[in-house]
Amino acid sequence: MADTLTITDNRTGKKYDVPIVDGAVRATDLRQIKTSEEDWGLVSYDPGFLNTAATRSSITYIDGDQGVLEYRGYPIEQLAEHGTYLETAYLLIHGELPTADELKNWENSIESHTIVHENLKQLMEGFRYDAHPMGMLISSVAALSTFYPEAKNVRDAATRLKQIHRLIAKVPTLAAVCYRHSLGLPYNYPNNELGYTENFLNMMFRMTESRLEVHPVLSRALEILFILHADHEQNCSTAAMRAVGSSEVDPYSAYAGAAAALYGPLHGGANEAVLRMLESIGDVKEVPNFIERVKNREVLLMGFGHRVYKNYDPRATIIKRTADEVFEVTGRNPLLEIALELERIALDDDFFVKRKLYPNVDFYSGLIYQSMGLPVSMFPVLFAIPRTAGWLAQWQEMLEDPEQKIARPRQIYTGPARRDYVPMNRR
Ligand code: CMC
Repeated sequence: MADTLTITDNRTGKKYDVPIVDGAVRATDLRQIKTSEEDWGLVSYDPGFLNTAATRSSITYIDGDQGVLEYRGYPIEQLAEHGTYLETAYLLIHGELPTADELKNWENSIESHTIVHENLKQLMEGFRYDAHPMGMLISSVAALSTFYPEAKNVRDAATRLKQIHRLIAKVPTLAAVCYRHSLGLPYNYPNNELGYTENFLNMMFRMTESRLEVHPVLSRALEILFILHADHEQNCSTAAMRAVGSSEVDPYSAYAGAAAALYGPLHGGANEAVLRMLESIGDVKEVPNFIERVKNREVLLMGFGHRVYKNYDPRATIIKRTADEVFEVTGRNPLLEIALELERIALDDDFFVKRKLYPNVDFYSGLIYQSMGLPVSMFPVLFAIPRTAGWLAQWQEMLEDPEQKIARPRQIYTGPARRDYVPMNRR
């Protein structure tokens, strides 16, 4: 029979035909496979979701073997070359590139939502001077839900869209406030006459001047980095956004969950970890020793490897090129030599070749950020800002998908069988 999978249960000798649709079998179809009427039925066991599709999605396409990444069908290379971040965010949210009028309205709306409530300043002031900006960002976005109680109405498309505009607009403002807090500097208000990335850099770095002039190569580099980070299908933080959002909580709370997932060093915290790794290596001469330590499994080579890409991460290729342009303006980042040497040795070494470990998006992005004067602890925040569009596109798609339900995985219980409570004097 075409497009079916025939399963023989050797425990019972029974045969089952399970439909295959789009290269997948439904895990719930396995439930019919039972040894008795009381049996729950077969479950699929997949820790870390190595081979489980949790959704149908029309947002982002990745071919990990070929190193392909597309948003709504558009290759990442073309978006990075011709697009802007806000245009890309529109594409992710609405499914099509905007017309000139649509883009103008979208940009105007985002610009008109950049200011955050003054009370958020007090929330920020509660943080210690050395609080990690990512912890501050996660908390302040969660706090936004208390300012917009109507956001709970997640089944209403217009309310949802309003929160999408608000989040894309306000996250850079909050991010800049986190940075300024850590330096004890007054917070800068957004300037709606500036573009998205220029406005962000102004909120970050403007001192007494009325407007910070940003070198066009640097603001374009940031724009490109934002485009490259805008979405990446069902990664850890997006899965968190969908799972938390599936309880129908407001998007600010779901976003806080996604951002928390991003913060980890295996995910969006990797760009920070790469910089700290390069600094700890300190000298090109130390690279072979470090590679030996990686091979002895003492440390990970941060910024290498990916669950999906088993080839050069296409984002890393674009970032490497962008880094050269940035360094023309800022001067070469001294850590670049170490990164290049790590890459050279790793790409030639059997340990990495056999495991198909290539540089990922985080390997060179930190070097660019650092050369632009952005502090290392801000790197995960710089990942979260552009990923806002992707998380929200995925959140919206999840809510509009009639097949989706509250996320609730199953488990294989391995604890003790039922036993009676033991009084304290008999333990
Ligand atoms: N350094 C050394 N060995 C590695 C690395 C690495 N960076 N990544 C994977 N390996 C080894 C791993 O030990 C395993 O070896 P073996 O099969 O002998 O046990 C093999 O390669 C397969 O790795 P895995 O851990 O099973 O792969 P995974 O898909 O579960 O993990 C990953 C993917 C990205 C978490 C992992 O590659 C890693 O920890 N990389 C370093 C952190 C990093 O750069 N993260 C950023 C990811 S890209 C940005 C993003 O989307 O967040």
